[in-house]
Amino acid sequence: MSINAAVIGCGNISQFHFSGLAKAQAKVKWVCDLNRDAAMKWQAETGAEFTPDYQQIINDPSINLINITCATSAHYPICMDAIAAGKAVICEKTLGLNAADSAAIVKAARDKGTLFYTSYMKRFLPAVEMAKQLIPELGQIISADFRSCQNWGIPNGKIPTDGIFAVPPQGQSFVRKAYGGGILNCGGSHVLDLVGFLLGKPEKISAAIYVPEGFDIDLHASLLLEINRCPVYVLALAHPSSKAGYFNSGWDERFEINGINGRLEFYGPEWTDHSVRAPILRHLDNRTGNTKEYHLDPCSPFDRAIGAFCRDVENGSQQAQSDATGYYVDQLIDSAWQSVRENSQININWKM
Ligand SMILES: NC(=O)c1ccc[n+]([C@@H]2O[C@H](COP(=O)([O-])OP(=O)(O)OC[C@H]3O[C@@H](n4cnc5c(N)ncnc54)[C@H](O)[C@@H]3O)[C@@H](O)[C@H]2O)c1
Repeated sequence: MSINAAVIGCGNISQFHFSGLAKAQAKVKWVCDLNRDAAMKWQAETGAEFTPDYQQIINDPSINLINITCATSAHYPICMDAIAAGKAVICEKTLGLNAADSAAIVKAARDKGTLFYTSYMKRFLPAVEMAKQLIPELGQIISADFRSCQNWGIPNGKIPTDGIFAVPPQGQSFVRKAYGGGILNCGGSHVLDLVGFLLGKPEKISAAIYVPEGFDIDLHASLLLEINRCPVYVLALAHPSSKAGYFNSGWDERFEINGINGRLEFYGPEWTDHSVRAPILRHLDNRTGNTKEYHLDPCSPFDRAIGAFCRDVENGSQQAQSDATGYYVDQLIDSAWQSVRENSQININWKM
């Protein structure tokens, strides 16, 4: 089956999806955005038709893949309409504004028998794939530590009056509207996805999340998860330093996984840099005393993710990634907030 695709939302992230679709040789037949100017470049580049109304795409029977790259607040209705029309869907993360919406999307896709992906692309980084392969070498996992610290350039202690963090009277900041939340939804969601990919489903969670006065988003989230009696610490932080991190870029994304036989360490560059700079993966083997450092070739994880999803759509079979990945992360985010509200550790009530 050849792929006739449509892209809904032509803002910042869409460039990576257009690239992935082009490399997968999918034909982009429609581009859609509420703002025509955002779509013009992509309309010219792909030769696609433009519409500001996504229903026109839903009603086109020739479209078999819909890429949803618009603001998180618009994901739910577009996913549900696309699934009801039997289209395969790739949706940007985070999937929903809450776990109940995300679970409903996944259930709808299962009931309809359509393929459904949330675009958590970091699990398609070769260094992350290598980490997954090496985990059995670690033996029993005894602790893990994941972090996403990003320099958001927010002056310490000041309430923003303009820009993407400013909260207008009776309104929401750009960040809350576009991304559905703060640092936990932005960088934090990616490392939560990696926890699921590498270690599985936590049973328990306790969290501390900090929304400073004058903001409508969190800038600091610390989560303590428990997976099979193993403590997993997750930190998402809007970091004040522009030099933080392994690459001194203000981007500090890393994980450590400790097993009885050794340890894995991962250091990632900024998400926009993957095509020029590869993450570093280190494997410390307690049994031999050796440390091996992997410097794999840089590549775009978006291209690899979208390529894998497109191959599944061509073959009519969901292989590259579970349909429930987006729900998994949203359930952890909801459970973290529940733990904060209840001021206690909670058992995670997985719906699927
Ligand atoms: N995977 C990642 O690392 C990553 C990074 C950044 C953003 N994102 C996600 O990508 C999504 C978009 O983020 P962005 O940075 O591109 O935002 P953006 O504001 O740059 O672009 C979003 C576009 O969607 C359009 N839009 C909004 N509602 C629409 C609707 N109902 N129909 C058609 N168009 C609509 C807007 O006009 C805008 O042009 C968000 O869900 C965000 O969380 C993911």
